Amino acid sequence: MSDTNATGETLTVRDNRTGQEYDIPITDNAIKAKDLGQIRLDDDTPGLCTYDPGFTNTASCRSAVTFIDGEKGILEYRGYPIEQLAESSTFLEVAYLLIHGDLPDKAQYEQWVHDITYHTFVHENVKTFMQGFRYDGHPMGMLEASVAALSTFYPESSNITDADNRNMQIVRMIAKMPTLGAWAFRHAQGKPYVYPDNDLSYTENFLAMLFKMSEQKYEPDPRLAKALDVLFILHADHEQNCSANAVRSVGSSQVDPYSSVAAGIGALYGPLHGGANEAVLRMLRRIGSKENIPGFIEGVKNGDEKLMGFGHRVYKNYDPRAKIIKKTCDEVFEVTGVNPLLEIAQELEKIALEDDYFISRKLYPNVDFYSGLIYEALNFPPEMFTVLFAIGRTPGWLAQWLELVQDKDQKIARPKQIYTGDRGLEFTPREERWK
Ligand SMILES: CC(C)(COP(=O)(O)OP(=O)(O)OC[C@H]1O[C@@H](n2cnc3c(N)ncnc32)[C@H](O)[C@@H]1OP(=O)(O)O)[C@@H](O)C(=O)NCCC(=O)NCCS
Repeated sequence: MSDTNATGETLTVRDNRTGQEYDIPITDNAIKAKDLGQIRLDDDTPGLCTYDPGFTNTASCRSAVTFIDGEKGILEYRGYPIEQLAESSTFLEVAYLLIHGDLPDKAQYEQWVHDITYHTFVHENVKTFMQGFRYDGHPMGMLEASVAALSTFYPESSNITDADNRNMQIVRMIAKMPTLGAWAFRHAQGKPYVYPDNDLSYTENFLAMLFKMSEQKYEPDPRLAKALDVLFILHADHEQNCSANAVRSVGSSQVDPYSSVAAGIGALYGPLHGGANEAVLRMLRRIGSKENIPGFIEGVKNGDEKLMGFGHRVYKNYDPRAKIIKKTCDEVFEVTGVNPLLEIAQELEKIALEDDYFISRKLYPNVDFYSGLIYEALNFPPEMFTVLFAIGRTPGWLAQWLELVQDKDQKIARPKQIYTGDRGLEFTPREERWK
């Protein structure tokens, strides 16, 4: 954070151990954790620090990428409300907005789409590499490893101080992510990998690489391609979440962007982050019918399990993305037919939103509650859901990474700890311990 404190606002802290008072500047409604370091009991005791597992109340950066007001249910990319972007933009335009900070003019947009389309192919050795995975390898594990491996194909990517070089890797990564994701999907099915078709749009091409068989030209239903495009927009960024934090943390060592994004993919793989929609589907299947919902809800309230797809660290209101997804559900089901689990999901939502347990804890449906139903209708197996999330999130990770590497305030990420272990023990040699 910059040292300017234009408002002159301060926080007075009194250390009751010593009786001493400290004036700590407040900037942007935050104090610098480092300023607490001057508060110490005596010269032998380290300065005061904050204890914040999970960073629930710690800002790690200044960022101009994404704004969220969790209480009001607002999400904006570079100042534009998510509802307007989902309604009127395209995923690649949103990607440009996130990376460049502004909407493109016509020439910039055409160049951007051209560049990304041009870079959809991967080196043939990437294909060989991916073919080496076990037949039942999880596609997220394959994606994570393949993205990390791209750093070996583009060793110049380690030159992160060069703006043109950075831009090249950003274009490559957004372009190649659907290719790698689709190939991970084909691999599990034992089907040949399909090369990109650069006559198609970003999402159409992705669908073609997933589902094309022997036909000369794969023609995806434009309504499904549009639905997928909207889902990618909704997932494109979400400020300092677990995976963005992983990208920034690894990126702070100044490693190449492929390694940083691979760390983000690893974080997204976890069930509390990107894996939740897969868990929602499993939960809905287990509930099986509307009659079983009250019993299930009782179990959740007794703490037996969580209602997956509900609750969010930031949103204490209806997740704005969940509202848009609900609408997208209707559009997709018009083409594919209604997913029978939808009825259970809707009833579950209705009952939960009227129940005091969920109301008092401000637990509302999040982005994952309905997205799994759409993905299933599009013929994706649950293991692929997080891969779709990762493809959508890639521009966000890269925008966060780009901001990080240009931020003069940033240092290598290195939190403090409160040590709770033993000290100064005497080492006993093995021969004596094992007697
Ligand atoms: C997303 C999530 C990890 C946020 O966790 P968090 O901000 O740390 O919230 P907490 O775990 O402190 O939850 C606060 C309270 O609500 C309860 N709670 C949170 N999510 C819940 C859920 N989905 N079902 C039932 N209870 C839930 C907690 O048990 C806790 O209750 P308590 O105060 O009686 O102990 C959490 O809501 C969750 O696990 N949800 C389900 C998984 C999911 O959908 N993840 C996708 C996120 S996009």
